[in-house]
Amino acid sequence: KTLRKAVIAGNWKMNKNRAEAKALITDLKPLVADASCDVVICVPYTNLETALAATEGTNIKVGAENCHFEKSGAFTGEISADMLTEMGVEYVIIGHSERRQYFGETDVTVNKRTKAAIAAGLNVILCVGEMLEDRENGITAELVAMQTKIALKDVSKEELKQVIIAYEPVWAIGTGKTATAEQANEVCAIIRSVIAQMYDQAAADAMTIQYGGSMNAKNAEELVAQPDVDGGLIGGAALKAEDFSVIVKAAS
Ligand code: G3P
Repeated sequence: KTLRKAVIAGNWKMNKNRAEAKALITDLKPLVADASCDVVICVPYTNLETALAATEGTNIKVGAENCHFEKSGAFTGEISADMLTEMGVEYVIIGHSERRQYFGETDVTVNKRTKAAIAAGLNVILCVGEMLEDRENGITAELVAMQTKIALKDVSKEELKQVIIAYEPVWAIGTGKTATAEQANEVCAIIRSVIAQMYDQAAADAMTIQYGGSMNAKNAEELVAQPDVDGGLIGGAALKAEDFSVIVKAAS
């Protein structure tokens, strides 16, 4: 764990207009200025420019919530990875369960998007995680291993340095039902062993693996203290500067 830097990333989802984004970042800046973990905010496309301007010269990095795998072309409504890097965006979330559930993302498109984002120079926050039904059927380990393997197909060991994995059990997202610290650690450790199998132990030891799903100011400390949990991907609690900063402090 000492080999890895924790990353606390906010996923704003479809929230905040530009004025609200600016206000939130203004409040957040001083609260996280001395963080020893990496701090990232992933915001709607319409807030990227505002977020980049508002975080300039600070330790807060800016990410998008998705990107397409093609470089350009007739893909109405989509944004390419190059469009993001050209703006100065450094991170992108890929394969969030809401993309998988509501927008038809599959493990194969997640792999394509991951490769495109890496090629463009972005850092990828790759999301994996089981549905409640999967957990009840006892297939969490297999499912998360499969998602990880397909998402990282043809990603080299060198390119893997641009990837963070976020374990987000779907039943814990926005439900207030957090995985226990043991459950979170168990699956993060399984993902780490998949990385060791696919690459090697050094790559696995260096991989930042976050937990996400109803992480908040109260439970963050216990979660990030787990040996295989290297920070968090935060939804609801990232929308309030105070709450988000408490989580950042827990990981610092
Ligand atoms: O990507 C973060 C996320 O899905 C967790 O959301 O609101 O449960 O923290 P939330």
